[in-house]
Amino acid sequence: EKGGYASFMLKEIADQPRAVADTLLGRIDGEGSLHLDEVRIPDADLREVDKVVIVACGTAFHAGMIAKYAIEHWTRLPCETELASEFRYRDPILDQRTLVVAISQSGETMDTLMALRHAREQGAKVLAICNTNGSTIPRESDAVLYTHAGPEVAVASTKAFLTQLVACYLVALYLGQLRGTKWGDEIRTVVRQLSAVPGEVERVLETMEPVRELARSLAHHDTVLFLGRHVGYPVALEGALKLKELAYMHAEGFAAGELKHGPIALVEKGLPVVVIAPSPRGRSVLHDKIVSNIQEIRARGARTIVVAEEGDQAVVPYADHLITVPATPTLLQPLVATVPLQVFACELATARGNEVDQPRNLAKSVTVE
Ligand code: M6R
Repeated sequence: EKGGYASFMLKEIADQPRAVADTLLGRIDGEGSLHLDEVRIPDADLREVDKVVIVACGTAFHAGMIAKYAIEHWTRLPCETELASEFRYRDPILDQRTLVVAISQSGETMDTLMALRHAREQGAKVLAICNTNGSTIPRESDAVLYTHAGPEVAVASTKAFLTQLVACYLVALYLGQLRGTKWGDEIRTVVRQLSAVPGEVERVLETMEPVRELARSLAHHDTVLFLGRHVGYPVALEGALKLKELAYMHAEGFAAGELKHGPIALVEKGLPVVVIAPSPRGRSVLHDKIVSNIQEIRARGARTIVVAEEGDQAVVPYADHLITVPATPTLLQPLVATVPLQVFACELATARGNEVDQPRNLAKSVTVE
């Protein structure tokens, strides 16, 4: 069943180009327009939406954090992303014009289910992004957009995450298309760029041997930190979550701008710090700031592991280890930047003798609140 791979997790990591391609399939036409006919919320209702709220847990929550950037940028609608387990306890402000997006691989996560029930009670429309046909979350939602990752067996979520991102981008672009925001041309360009992602993920997968080697060399460490800004911040959180659940290491993700507000005190000689560098093209301000963060931590002795776009020369002098990913538009970068972090965590956990498909204390779907 593992198709020659040592674990389901490795098989699922390798399956990502196919999973991303299948999730895009039939949803984009040759003109670069989106068709989400399966989403059974009438376009007229979607045009009325004045706020989007995303609820999810764990890895799906990280996909939702990234979706917030995409939705706000492409639709100019306010969007919040909240942990499903916190959502209903703060009595959130929702009404008929709120679109709640519930993201769940399994479709059975109790925290997410309770959040969506609460949202529907308040009159909000709920759209599920889900990987499991006919599961409880899509059944109880107004509409569903399925991810086509295929069955995900390993407890650590990998291909579900990438496909959740794709589904979130599709929702964001579709809302943008419906609303006819001034980003029309940009939307068409991004739609085309999304189609290139499966090939880019494939390329990342082909260059992972140095990442595996690096992971093995860090097996004796106790702590690894992850830093990112903008959409790189949720990627940092996701890299840290993978390492916690698989390698049982202290791993934390920070927004790079927060470093100076506390976390930099953790940096000591030899501490591995993974930094996700945004593209040097486009928003170069963000890039410049990350470069100075890398300099700061390196000056304090950190061993810097930098995930950067191919051809990014500015990070080279400060990267003890450089992991390059293909150039993508900033908002899409998580689709390629997360992949090396999955491989890194899987290899590090294996080097520590852990069972990667079944980490201790965890279940694939969490059906209790
Ligand atoms: O099935 P769901 O997507 O609702 O699951 C949510 C989380 O429990 C899940 O993503 C969890 O964090 C993973 N084990 C992370 O790898």
